Amino acid sequence: MLTTVSLTPDDFQRWAEHLNRQIAESGQNGRPFFSPMEAVDFQSPERRARFENGLATSLHQPAWMRAWAVEGPDASLVAHLDLSGSSIPSEKHRATLGIGVEDAFHRRGIGRELMLKAIEFAAHNDIEWIDLFVFSDNLAAIGLYRSLGFVKVGRRNDRFRISGRSVDDVTMTLRTKG
Ligand SMILES: CC(C)(COP(=O)(O)OP(=O)(O)OC[C@H]1O[C@@H](n2cnc3c(N)ncnc32)[C@H](O)[C@@H]1OP(=O)(O)O)[C@@H](O)C(=O)NCCC(=O)NCCS
Repeated sequence: MLTTVSLTPDDFQRWAEHLNRQIAESGQNGRPFFSPMEAVDFQSPERRARFENGLATSLHQPAWMRAWAVEGPDASLVAHLDLSGSSIPSEKHRATLGIGVEDAFHRRGIGRELMLKAIEFAAHNDIEWIDLFVFSDNLAAIGLYRSLGFVKVGRRNDRFRISGRSVDDVTMTLRTKG
């Protein structure tokens, strides 16, 4: 059985383990790259501090974070979504979104469910815009975002070079209210 949960600072270890598994799938098995980070360990002390501090920060303060995840039967996480507030106070009406579902759990509606949860959370908390970044050839993710009303507002050609390949990065945004 799969359960959707809101994460707390105590969830850092399983959050980091899931991210390490999920990011390792970028560019594998014929799938497009989806992460600019080729070798990163999410279990570092810096990442722990960012996770714990972000979740403990009120939405009225800079650099807050909220995260949801889908938990498998053994309590490990198989999918995540995070929303982060800017460190600049004048940008506090916006949040940036990141999402990932482990390969074995794709196409079961998990991505859409997490996105709907985040959009609802933003709309109820006066976060008027959700921004995200997606590689231009990540058609699965772009399809999901478009179906929820996100629109493309920018593109940086050749933003990353991953395993020797040039990657274009697209910015998409959703107005949650108004
Ligand atoms: C993008 C991602 C989050 C989608 O998650 P998911 O749980 O598989 O998606 P869902 O089952 O909820 O599907 C929702 C919609 O996404 C789109 N979609 C998902 N997978 C797709 C695919 N392989 N091809 C085309 N569209 C796809 C479809 O519009 C789908 O709606 P439909 O099932 O009614 O056609 C998932 O593929 C993923 O984690 N990929 C790797 C990480 C990643 O790319 N993160 C985003 C970086 S910006």
